[in-house]
Amino acid sequence: MRQHVFLVGFMGSGKSTVGPPLAALLGLPFVDLDREVEEERGEPITEIFRTYGESAFRELERLCLERVSKGPPSVVAVGGGAFSSEENRVLMLRTGITVFLDVSLEAAWSRCAGDPTRPLAADFGRFERLFRQRRETYRLADIRIESGFGKPSRTSAEIASRLKALGVAGAWAKESD
Ligand code: S3P
Repeated sequence: MRQHVFLVGFMGSGKSTVGPPLAALLGLPFVDLDREVEEERGEPITEIFRTYGESAFRELERLCLERVSKGPPSVVAVGGGAFSSEENRVLMLRTGITVFLDVSLEAAWSRCAGDPTRPLAADFGRFERLFRQRRETYRLADIRIESGFGKPSRTSAEIASRLKALGVAGAWAKESD
């Protein structure tokens, strides 16, 4: 059953910022998958990357996503790389509605450059390559929303109304009507 709302998109697209107000609008709990991974391993993401490597991080991310997808209906912000894995993508498309927060490369970089908690945002060349590689995959999401520098409350209201228009906000929206 498609009971969750998954927020997908590149680093700096605003998933973790838009998630809480959207969850409040829909009357659902908010889950940040990166925080789940950190709790699961008991270490921050940078440490997981540094000590065990990216593939270990991806495995933890997959495990946590699997667990969250079996849990109660939630708004879930997933890390920028999670939707690139076909296995993860199929799971998200099957158990929820996926919302692509589309951000420009420039806006994403201005938000992430030099952020020590984002190991994949250390240099612009790699950041740009990833951005271009992933773009087409994000487009496979059910809904695409422009995520510029607008207020999170406005973006979340737009997502809620798009969910409603799709007729999928059903049980969630009734409570907030
Ligand atoms: C990643 C994005 C990060 C985090 C990890 C890897 C990526 O999440 O999952 O650093 O591969 O794009 P945000 O998108 O929340 O920054």
